[in-house]
Amino acid sequence: MKLELTVNGKPCHWDIEPGALLLDVLREHGYTSVKRGCGEGVCGACTVLVDGKRQNSCLLLAGQMQGRTITTVEGLGTIDHPHPIQKAFVAAGAVQCGFCTPGMVLATKALLDETPEPTDEEIRRALDGNLCRCTGYVKILDAVHISVDALKTGGQHPDQAGRHKAHQAIEEAMDQATKAGDTP
Ligand code: FES
Ligand code: FES
Repeated sequence: MKLELTVNGKPCHWDIEPGALLLDVLREHGYTSVKRGCGEGVCGACTVLVDGKRQNSCLLLAGQMQGRTITTVEGLGTIDHPHPIQKAFVAAGAVQCGFCTPGMVLATKALLDETPEPTDEEIRRALDGNLCRCTGYVKILDAVHISVDALKTGGQHPDQAGRHKAHQAIEEAMDQATKAGDTP
C-alpha cells in the first residue's frame, strides 16, 4: 500500500506492507535511531513523536500514519548542530550504551514542549515509559534539568567546556555507531 507522511520535515512516499509496524518501516528507510527493544510497548526504545506527541512505534501500524508528521532523533540535531537536549544528555553523562537515548531524548522533548519547567515528579512520570539498563536514571534526571536551563537560554549550553565535551562525545558515539552500522 502507498503511504504519504512527513518524517523529520521531509515529505515521504513509501510502498509498505499493510501490516507493517511503524518501527520496522522507519528502520528500513534509514531511521535507525528508532530501536527495537521489547517490541511490546514497555521499554520506550522505539519512541518517536507523532504530530509532536510521544508514541511507541512498535505499537503503531505504519498504515495509520497517512498524512502524519513523524520526528525521530535524526530530525532533532546533527553532529555539527546537536539539539540542546542531546548536548545535555552527553554533558550529564546520561548516555552509556546509548540504546535508550534516542527514546529518552524524544520523550524529554515532548515533555519540555508541553511543560518547559517540569518538577522532578513530572519528569519521572513523563519518562516512566522509557527504560534504561545502564544509568540508574539519576543522570537522566540531571540531563532533563540541564536541558531546561539550556532551552531557557535560547538553546545555548551555559557551560562552554561542557559544550565542547558534549560535541566530542557525540562525535565519538556517532563514529562508533557508524562502524557498527547503526545510529545511537
Ligand atoms: S520496542 Fe517499543 S516499547 Fe519497547
Ligand atoms: S544508556 Fe544503556 S540502556 Fe540507557
